[in-house]
Order: sequence, then structure tokens, then C-alpha cells
Amino acid sequence: MTKVIAHRGSKGTHPENTIAAFLEAVDCQCDGIELDVQYTKDKVLVVIHDNSVDRTTNGRGEVDHLTLQEIQQLDAGSWFDEIYRDQRVPLLTEVLELLKEREFKGLLNIEIKTDEKPYMGIEEDLVKVMQSQPWPFDYLYSSFNLASLELAQQLDPTAPKAYIIGVSPKKIKQARGLSFISAIHPKIDWVKAQGERISAYPKAVRPWTVNDELDMQDCFRKKIAGIHTDYPREAMRYRRLMYP
Ligand code: G3P
Ligand code: MG
Repeated sequence: MTKVIAHRGSKGTHPENTIAAFLEAVDCQCDGIELDVQYTKDKVLVVIHDNSVDRTTNGRGEVDHLTLQEIQQLDAGSWFDEIYRDQRVPLLTEVLELLKEREFKGLLNIEIKTDEKPYMGIEEDLVKVMQSQPWPFDYLYSSFNLASLELAQQLDPTAPKAYIIGVSPKKIKQARGLSFISAIHPKIDWVKAQGERISAYPKAVRPWTVNDELDMQDCFRKKIAGIHTDYPREAMRYRRLMYP
């Protein structure tokens, strides 16, 4: 059955990449959770999507120009809704501990956000955290940046690696030939353009961002490996209706 993966927590209904969004994902019992990891100025792994804090907090500046202490003072929820004003940019370790405490048993998709900034050393630090204890959930590393995945493969060879791809035929072909890449995460547009041929692709395919009900149903019918969605609760409901 197609896995439902909560994109940035539950981005559609909660402030993305916050504890509130991850709690919602756990609560709706979806199969997976995706989050984005970046470095602060003092090289702490934090969970935030953009390279700057401007869009999703009340602060200003690039994530890697702010210390953890500076970032932790920011309100990461009010921009979405005033009721989330207590939300902060979480540390990766905070999210991991939360998932453990809430007995999340699904798949955690850790996106290494090195497509715009290389963040030297981030893969090593990330793998150290992931190997620091036996987490009660499965995890995989994903990235738009192949070099980060190659490094993660050297450091943590048993964890799956997924190559995030837009719609580039070149990258899709390249991914086919890389044995250490177990899955591709393309844009939903690419999957739709493939039609029924998608089932012949030799690796797991988990598109993003699948928010439209008909697209979700189409992916479920085609038995696509997984979908990243901003609305995991709704997606779970649609899937249950199709497969009671
Ligand atoms: O991993 C799928 C998706 O998260 C990639 O795009 O920009 O939302 O991180 P983005
Ligand atoms: Mg992401």
C-alpha cells in the first residue's frame, strides 16, 4: 500500500517543521514524516525548510548566520496562526526524541538541505546523531544534492538514500544507474506524465507534494511506494476509503 508521508510535519494544517506539525503527523497515524535539516551558525542541526528564517518565523536572517540561541528565541508559529505562537524552530534531536516518546513506528525522511548551501560537515554530524542510539522507527536520508547522499552512504551505508528530483529526465536516468540510491522523490507532475508506465520504474517512487484528492487516489491505485503530502490526515482518510 502507498505510504502517506507528512511533508514538513503537516504543512497544510500546522506551521511546517514545528513540534505542533510533527505531533499532528503522529496523531493522524500516517506512515512517514518528512523534515528538512540545516546548520545554525554554531553548527547545530535544526529543522527548517528555507535557508533564511524570514518566511516561517518572526525573525530575519540566514539560518547559518544565526546561533542556536538566537534562533530558539524566534516565534515559528504566529506567521501561520496566532494559536501557534509558542512554537520554535526545533533541534533535530528534539524531534527525534519526540517521535521516540510518542512511539512513532513509521519512516522518518530526513532531507539534508544542502542544495543551496553545502554546510560542510553536516552529513557527519547528522549520521552521528542518527547512530547515537537505536531509534524505534526507520529512517532514510534524502537530498537534492547527490554529493550529500554519497557521503551519507559512506558514513551510514545501511540507511536508505533517496534522490530528490524535480522533473529532470537527466536526473531520473542518472538515479537508475546508482545502486546506492533506493528511491527517487520526484515532483508529482513527473509521475502524472508517466501515466501507467510508472510501475516499470525500477526503484521506489515517492512524489511530492501530493495535495490534490484525485492525485492521491491515482497514486494509491497505481501502488506508488509513497506520497509526500501537506495534508496527511486527509490522505489517510482517502486511503482508508479506497482500502478499508
Ligand atoms: O522531500 C520532498 C520535498 O520535501 C522536497 O522539497 O522543497 O519541500 O524540501 P522541499
Ligand atoms: Mg523537504
